[in-house]
Amino acid sequence: MARILGIGNAVLDVILNVDHHPKENQEIRASDKHVATGGNVNNSLYILNQLGHNTAICSTVAADSEAKMLLNDLKDRNINTEHIQKFIKGRTPTSYINLNNANGSRTIVHYRDLPEVSFDFFAKIEIEEYDWLHFEGRNMEQLPGMINIAKTFLTHQPISLEVEKPRPGIEAVFESVNLIIFSHHYATAKGFKDGNSLLESLDLPNVNLVCTWGEQGAWYKPINGDIGHIAAIKLHKVIDTLGAGDTFNAGVIHALAEKQPLDSAVSFANTLAAQKCQQHGLDNVQDSTIERKPLANYKQLSQAKTTVVESDDGRSLILVRFEDGVRCYLNNCPHQDVPLNEAYKVDINPFEKTMKCSVHDAFFNIEDGLCVEGPCWDESLQMVDVEVEENGDIFLA
Ligand code: FRU
Repeated sequence: MARILGIGNAVLDVILNVDHHPKENQEIRASDKHVATGGNVNNSLYILNQLGHNTAICSTVAADSEAKMLLNDLKDRNINTEHIQKFIKGRTPTSYINLNNANGSRTIVHYRDLPEVSFDFFAKIEIEEYDWLHFEGRNMEQLPGMINIAKTFLTHQPISLEVEKPRPGIEAVFESVNLIIFSHHYATAKGFKDGNSLLESLDLPNVNLVCTWGEQGAWYKPINGDIGHIAAIKLHKVIDTLGAGDTFNAGVIHALAEKQPLDSAVSFANTLAAQKCQQHGLDNVQDSTIERKPLANYKQLSQAKTTVVESDDGRSLILVRFEDGVRCYLNNCPHQDVPLNEAYKVDINPFEKTMKCSVHDAFFNIEDGLCVEGPCWDESLQMVDVEVEENGDIFLA
């Protein structure tokens, strides 16, 4: 287990649960209200504690009554508070959050006038005592100096950086860290249409790169490796997305600290973030189980026609009833690697028990996917294992 120092904001979240977001000039009632500590690094550290690490935060606090609450909460979360800089000027940073009960989405209004950690304060910390340093990509006047000093004095400890928003000059520190986690917000603000194009544009061969993109999953590029993609897990019901990104970041840091490769780390983080979205708050995130979305229900299928669906991991699949069960194939014709329904639907011949690729009329056995007639004769469709639950819901096995 690692000793992890997070440098960023600790804030107070005032959370109102609402049945929908209010329109401008509208009044609505909240169904619940609660106050919790938040802030990206603070949230990530809390999750890292749950994953068994020892964490400390380097942040600032004001001299107001909310600050006491904040510090108590950090202690309750088991986050070490010895590196907190205190200011007389400014008030506790607060986020006023509306959380939509219908779909877990949130709107945030930030109040910030408290100074952020100064370079001089950071420079006094014995950073060598930590195994990992994680920076929130903010506080641009001080961040380059802090990262520079960390890079100079640390020998083997990784430095990670969260880049959530575009901030002037942030790109200058990219080369000095070991892991960068970009948000979709940063990428779109920079004009990229997906994580792949952002990562392709960066010339950072010695940095592990990750870019998250909500429902489109996450892209990653390991040091000296190729770009890969992991699809988001499709959830039955999203309850609360507040802190999902922070949970994802904690998942990546945890898995890399455990010496896993970047693709496994992103996959783990993806699952952890999905678990978080299915529960309120950040407590016991690991214990929450993912409610998977079925591919389809058996009753929707027929022996006379095929059904094309998309799986949780983003694959296009063909489902069809066969005898008492279901056959599922990857929707990819071995002839030219195109979806079988690209030109038209995938027709069934009930007498021959075959189905036909609409592009060049290759016929495949429904039973085993073998091509029995057509341009890819003797090649097969890739069968995908599925299981049918008692209520007829069909899941990937
Ligand atoms: C969630 C969060 C909240 C905080 C806000 C800061 O990701 O960290 O806890 O109020 O974002 O941007």
